[in-house]
Amino acid sequence: MIGVFDSGLGGLTILRALKARFPAQAFVYLGDQANAPFGDRSSAEIVAFTRAGVTRLFERGARLVVLGCNTATAVALRTLQRDWLPTSGYAGVNVLGIVAPTVEAATQTPFSVTTPQYPQKNNREILGVFGTTRTIASGVYPEEIWKRCPRATVVQQACPELAAAIEAARPRAELAGIVAEAVDAMQAQLGPRRLDRAILGCTHFSLVEELFAARLPAGARILSQPEVVADSLEDYLARHPEYAGSGAAGLQLFTTGDPEAVSRAASIFWPAAGRFASARS
Ligand code: DGL
Repeated sequence: MIGVFDSGLGGLTILRALKARFPAQAFVYLGDQANAPFGDRSSAEIVAFTRAGVTRLFERGARLVVLGCNTATAVALRTLQRDWLPTSGYAGVNVLGIVAPTVEAATQTPFSVTTPQYPQKNNREILGVFGTTRTIASGVYPEEIWKRCPRATVVQQACPELAAAIEAARPRAELAGIVAEAVDAMQAQLGPRRLDRAILGCTHFSLVEELFAARLPAGARILSQPEVVADSLEDYLARHPEYAGSGAAGLQLFTTGDPEAVSRAASIFWPAAGRFASARS
């Protein structure tokens, strides 16, 4: 069984893509709504919440957990993989993040390759990264992209209120206003230059991808993080069939928050998602 973890609803975009790609797979999802949003939390809190979430998913039978959250990936993944997993007492399990596949897709370079390769090194694209305060402050996207594509321009824009507004199922017009402000702020950083590609580096933002698409300048493409994560997992499972699972297909959704409210909010963005149960029971 594969687990997907996020602070809240955003990871559903990753789950939806994985479910479509691996229809025979069993999935278990946990949204940590009791602690969401993560975007302005301290590193220690993000590590602790992520570790607790991953533990819950292991306890529910997941062997492989995908952090469907850029903030948790940027802040907590390395600590969990390097310091926690080896001493956690869980054997035959692993945790993966979603920044590496996104950087691979943005740079057309395997993550294991950390120097510019021809022709990628001549990539002069203008890339715009939208994310939470913590993801943007971590600098992980520009840093990892520039290692592989030093001539690319990477601009970043934090959208501190958007994940919480999505989580609260605020009206569409309000979400559109927040997105417009973020896109316009990025455009102001760029001046007359035109964005080639936008990375929605917060999974919540993919829930309102169409609002970004409507506001971005004509010709700017959005890199689909859910799709590139599905591509990357397909490749990973081919190399690690031990995580592919042999059980029946299925989907269980859990939240640390209020299952009623979360089920209602999730159905706005993914009507077929199904109902959430309490992670506490
Ligand atoms: N969905 C998350 C991300 O990808 C976190 C949003 C939040 O909780 O602030 O970064």
